[in-house]
Order: sequence, then structure tokens, then C-alpha cells
Amino acid sequence: MEKVLITGPLIGDSVNKLNDHFKVEYYKDEVMNQEAFAHAVKEAWGIITMTSLRVDQHVIDSAQGLKVISNLGVGCDNIDVACAKSRGIIVTNTPDILSASTAEMGVGLLLAASRCIIEGDRIMRAGEFSGWKVDLLLGSELNGKTLGILGCGRIGQTIARIAMGFEMEVLYRNRNRLTHELESRLRLTSVDFDRLVDQSDFLIITAPLNEESHHLFDLKTFERMKSSAILVNIGRGPVIKESDLVIALERNLIAGVALDVLESPPNMAAQLKKHPNVTLTPHLGSATTEARIAMSELVIDAVIDVYEGRIPNHLVT
Ligand code: 8YV
Repeated sequence: MEKVLITGPLIGDSVNKLNDHFKVEYYKDEVMNQEAFAHAVKEAWGIITMTSLRVDQHVIDSAQGLKVISNLGVGCDNIDVACAKSRGIIVTNTPDILSASTAEMGVGLLLAASRCIIEGDRIMRAGEFSGWKVDLLLGSELNGKTLGILGCGRIGQTIARIAMGFEMEVLYRNRNRLTHELESRLRLTSVDFDRLVDQSDFLIITAPLNEESHHLFDLKTFERMKSSAILVNIGRGPVIKESDLVIALERNLIAGVALDVLESPPNMAAQLKKHPNVTLTPHLGSATTEARIAMSELVIDAVIDVYEGRIPNHLVT
């Protein structure tokens, strides 16, 4: 029997579907570390990967019998897809089913940051609330403001749909412009990166990580942004240059930031932890029961599809 390596815990019991066809090596308690992964992958026919594990050329070279990499998540920046492709290895991911979950997280962070929800909670728990005050933790409304979306794929479009409820003007920047039909249905305006940065009151990053987006938010970008702007990152950490973000916050170049992803997780600049205008969550974008059950099923089904000679639903090309 061929070996399928499941590199970390999944939700639900879809893993059982593999037992008839494969010898399953399942890390069901926590995600493997890179070293253990690099070792275990050598004998694998198929792997189910998580974002924290690098599947680079070295790993691919060492896995001579590898036929499928089934990635739990939509972003595949952890995988050298071009290299996998050149060796005839199929790469799949889990789009669509996590769009609502991730978009809702983005909007949640937008509200948390703009209305000081986390700081309010902290004050209450610390016993620092001494009574109502007219200027206590004043926030800013989303209503009627300009929202910028960097990367307007399925998650960005879901955010745009939610933003209609706040009557926001929504600007977007995407590698490929959306259709006129979609733009008018979602009331979206396509702009270049400079205009997105200059005009947004709130800016959400959902873009994938690639050469073009790496460190797109550096000091030069922060200097262009409105000093009242709030930035939310639910995409990938390295889109923001963390050291420059620290400087931008110190100089009040922007009003706040909410980060669901970090440049080098789980590490982060100490200044971010202390800053009152920083909201932090531990990569929870797709962390709903609904999305994670669906993702877990998709990654298993993709492996079975390849085994039984079908083309999986979500090929990464
Ligand atoms: C996943 C994500 O939870 O889909 C993505 O790209 O970032 C998350 O939804 C993460 O990739 C876990 O592997």
C-alpha cells in the first residue's frame, strides 16, 4: 500500500476514507515540525500539507514517489508549485468553502480595530473601568467610509458584499481586473495600488504572497496612507514589512492595524505586542467549524481523486 502523510490534525472523520487504499501516517495531535516532515515525506505517495510546512525543491527532490500534494488552505505560498508541476506532481488546495469564514474574520478585525473592542475588553478585565466617559475609547465608523481591498478574489469579493451593508465605497486592486458585471454588482472600483493606499480609510489585505506582494507595505507605503487609516491583514504576513510597520505605528503614520498573519509566525516584533493600536489574532481566517470540516473533506477527497484517476476539483496551476 502507498503511504499518505497527513502532516497535522484535521477536523471530522473524513480521514477514515483513506484507510481502504493507503497506509496512513497521521499527525493528529499537532502539525509536524519541518525536520520530521522532511524525513517522513521521503516515502510518501501523497501528502496533506498545512501552511506552516515548506514544500520546497529540496523536499520535492527527496520524495521520489510523490504524486499529490493536497494543501489545507487556499494560499499555496508554502509550496514550490512550479517545481512540483515539473515533476508531474499534482497540487490541490481548498478555495471557495473558506471564503465566508475568512471574509467574516476580516470584517470582524476591521470592527475590532476601529471600535477598540479588544482594548475595551482588556480594560474591563483589568478593573480599569471607572465609569462611563464621553471620550472613552473613541473609534471611527465604517459607515460611508472608503474601504480598500488588496487582492479581490473570492474572499475579497465576499468582503465587498458585506461592505455594502455599511454603505462603504469600495476600491480594489487585483492582478486581473474583475468583469464589469461583477464590479457593478458588488459596487467595486478598480484602482492602481497608489490610489488604493492614498484613499482608503480602511484597507484589507487578502492578496496571496508572491514576488509582487512581498513587502508591498513598507515605510514608503505607510507614508502615503491616511494617518487615520486602519490596516487589516488576513492574507499572508510577509506582504507587510513588519519592521517598517513598527516604525509607522511609532510615527503615527497610520491609526491602527489588525494582524491575523505574521511575517515570521509565531514570532513577532515585541513592539507590536505592546502597542494599543494593534489587534492580534493567531491565523484564524478560516477557523470556523463549517470551513474547517469542509477543508478537511476536500483535502482527503483530492487524494482519493488522484488515486482513482480523476482530476481533483481544485488544481493549483
Ligand atoms: C488555512 C489560510 O487555515 O487558506 C489559507 O490560505 O491561510 C488558512 O485558511 C491555513 O492555510 C492552514 O493551512
